[in-house]
Amino acid sequence: MTKANPLAPDWLEVPADANELPSAVWSENAARSVTGEVTIAGVPVSTLVEQFGTPVYVVDEADVKARAAGIRESFDREFARVGSSAKVYYAGKAFLSTEVARWVTDAGLNIDVASGGELAVVLAAGVDASRVGVHGNNKSLAEIDRAVAVGVGAIVIDSLIEIERVAEAASRHARVQPVRLRINSGVHASTHEYLATAREDQKFGIPLADAAALVALIRAEPSLEFLGLHSHIGSQIFESEGFAEAAHRLFALHAELLADGPVPELNLGGGFGIAYTSVDEPLSIDEIAVRFADIVAGGAAELGIPVPVVAIEPGRSIIGPSTTTLYTVGTIKDVLVSIPTRTAVKSLRDSPEPAGVGPSSTGEGATRKYVSVDGGMSDNIRPSLYRADYSVRVVSRASSAEPALVRIAGKHCESGDIVVHADYLPSDVRPGDVVGIPATGAYGWAMASNYNYLGRPPVVAVIDGAARVIVRGETEADLLSRDAGVTA
Ligand SMILES: Cc1ncc(COP(=O)(O)O)c(C=O)c1O
Repeated sequence: MTKANPLAPDWLEVPADANELPSAVWSENAARSVTGEVTIAGVPVSTLVEQFGTPVYVVDEADVKARAAGIRESFDREFARVGSSAKVYYAGKAFLSTEVARWVTDAGLNIDVASGGELAVVLAAGVDASRVGVHGNNKSLAEIDRAVAVGVGAIVIDSLIEIERVAEAASRHARVQPVRLRINSGVHASTHEYLATAREDQKFGIPLADAAALVALIRAEPSLEFLGLHSHIGSQIFESEGFAEAAHRLFALHAELLADGPVPELNLGGGFGIAYTSVDEPLSIDEIAVRFADIVAGGAAELGIPVPVVAIEPGRSIIGPSTTTLYTVGTIKDVLVSIPTRTAVKSLRDSPEPAGVGPSSTGEGATRKYVSVDGGMSDNIRPSLYRADYSVRVVSRASSAEPALVRIAGKHCESGDIVVHADYLPSDVRPGDVVGIPATGAYGWAMASNYNYLGRPPVVAVIDGAARVIVRGETEADLLSRDAGVTA
């Protein structure tokens, strides 16, 4: 068994087999074939690379559909158990294309959009506008107008001024627009922890203390219909306590509002965590549904009010685990690095600062293999932006070489351009190998950029042994086409 590299963070274990694809992290239909090559939904990596090049986002279509249907079924079952029902909105911000919009709506989900552009995609997909929810802390008048004109099912009001803006658009279009009111509950959650304060310092929502007055204003507008309160407490959440605390806070207000009119729904947002590495252990969707139903039914019983229809807005947990980004290895460097103290290594996961220098170093050295690939922060900004962890495997072949600690670096002109901060790969990893980063479906392509004039990679769906492009990759011609000074 290979010894752990002292540069590795504490949570990272040396894999017994660096060829294995941990099922919690890889999409449902990814497997290593007898030849050693990985196939996704029956399509070999070599075929994908030959047809589409690298980098490429490969979406396991059946995996997305199964997750969408699964969340629908779990919430239907659990809310029926407590005498109510649930509405599931797919948060399109995680990844949106017309195909994906159709996959999730065919599975019975609604869709949330966060801009006019996302609304345009959903409408282009042929999704019935009544199944669309519209978010945003600064929706433009044009965005509000279009949303109202096409008849979206809900607009989430985020500030006082939006009440009159939405009401005005609705009366101009002779519609009664259903709206929710986004509350800043003072609860903020991420992974294992949540923070509960009287007020959270953030741009979204209305403070709890002001909400009743705003609901009264909404109810006074004949062109608006009040659906209920909305709260979204964070992302990549592994526990249910934060949701319980937010629900508890919203419930008191919800019950108070019932005295003056109907409050049919309660929207508890999204944010359910997924596994990016094999040590991540998020709650299963079934477990989340059970806990949500218990939280909501318990809160309603305590206050003696009917169990509301609950809406949720998961994005990452539906699309995230489905996608693998394939890159080709270009250059490799073994870099001798000062060994940080254990405290410094431990803090790596939470801190944006690199460890291993200054007083936190032991004075000894160890080698980290920098494996550079043909993409990077332009196709996945999360490792640089949030210091998010991912895992990696060589997918073009299997290897029996000892595992070596690697850092997967991108090709951008930024030292912070990292794709995977730390994982183990077979030590014979070499230029030309194709590596796969699983769980890149959420906020990867959606947050992609053209930094350094790299074209955004294609998104390819694979199902039943066949692959097809669902979003075309950008070419050099695409990149030049917007430069008004190009003459030839
Ligand atoms: C209001 C709202 N709803 C839903 C989501 C989806 O969150 P996730 O993709 O983590 O489930 C977000 C993400 O930021 C959000 O801001």
